Amino acid sequence: MDSKMVDAINEQINFEFYSSYIYLSMSAYLKSLNLNGFAHWLEIQVQEELAHAMKLFNFLEDRNGKVILEAIEKPKSTWNSPLDAFQDAYEHEKIVTARINNLVDMALTQKDHATNAHLQWFISEQVEEESNFCTIVQQISLAEKSPGGFFLLDKEFSQRVFTPIDTNNK
Ligand code: FEO
Repeated sequence: MDSKMVDAINEQINFEFYSSYIYLSMSAYLKSLNLNGFAHWLEIQVQEELAHAMKLFNFLEDRNGKVILEAIEKPKSTWNSPLDAFQDAYEHEKIVTARINNLVDMALTQKDHATNAHLQWFISEQVEEESNFCTIVQQISLAEKSPGGFFLLDKEFSQRVFTPIDTNNK
């Protein structure tokens, strides 16, 4: 693998861990508001982000690229409201999507078809990631206007389960 591609995948591994850190911090913030269902939803998201990191980690190893783990940036620890937190999350996912698109562009430029093929999974995943957060932002906006709305949403979010993905790429 080209060394620039290896560096870029390593940066994305770090960014996925950073994403998990952000959502874990957000989860703690929501728990501090006693919105335990919201917090639970984000804890599942933390697991998803860790799985994304490991999927890239294992891919790099399979391609004999050296995995280098860097320090993870400190996430924010408070937000103005649950809506503010999820708007932040939605914006964060748009950044992730842009980063994945840039990686694909690099793989195509280098005619690195294996990396391109691997990244296609992430392209599809980002459609779902953005959609999930966009929906929640809209739901929270509506809940803010209706009495009991937060309670119902919190109950719904407490039901989220983690669906494991194939992080070994086998
Ligand atoms: Fe790993 Fe939420 O993107």
